Amino acid sequence: MAPATASAITLTVNGEKHTLTVDHRTTLLDALRERLELTGTKKGCDQGQCGACTVLVGGRRVVSCLQLAVAVGDEDVTTIEGVANGEHLHPVQQAFLDLDGFQCGYCTPGQICSALAVLEEHAAGWPSAATEDVRPEAGPPALTPEEIRERMSGNLCRCGAYVSIVQAVAHAAEQTGGRTAEEPQKETKEPAA
Ligand code: FES
Ligand code: FES
Repeated sequence: MAPATASAITLTVNGEKHTLTVDHRTTLLDALRERLELTGTKKGCDQGQCGACTVLVGGRRVVSCLQLAVAVGDEDVTTIEGVANGEHLHPVQQAFLDLDGFQCGYCTPGQICSALAVLEEHAAGWPSAATEDVRPEAGPPALTPEEIRERMSGNLCRCGAYVSIVQAVAHAAEQTGGRTAEEPQKETKEPAA
């Protein structure tokens, strides 16, 4: 008997359960966009390099183009469609709007999902490659522009809206209780990577 190449799975997306049969090679990104019609999550490179497809799986950010749908299991998936609370935008979404954290908007759903995880990771005390003192007793580092750029470095923006994106994440961090060292200064546009 030929091995099965498709399976029935149940995906919990933004609190809603969806049962569907997928080819084992189907990525979470394609399942979301093509099968569940949740097209807020964008496909950029389809190779794990741009971050446009970032969603939260079990509260952790993943690039959904590299995540097989069959491997998601029971983890809750949160996409950009599930970030707002009804008509009320999440502070991260509001900050991107208020501070012009986008131009064409294609990378924005991934940037926002990533920023949500950055705030959680920072609140949990996770250091980044930009953290100078990584000793546990030093506590979470201040969310300086350098820290934000490092933590958001997996999300590329072809429009180069990085300056505003960093400002938006810093503003959202302040709104949600994160510690920032200072308001990010105006700076020349450069990749977050
Ligand atoms: S589309 Fe997934 S990382 Fe670029
Ligand atoms: S706003 Fe256009 S790619 Fe980022």
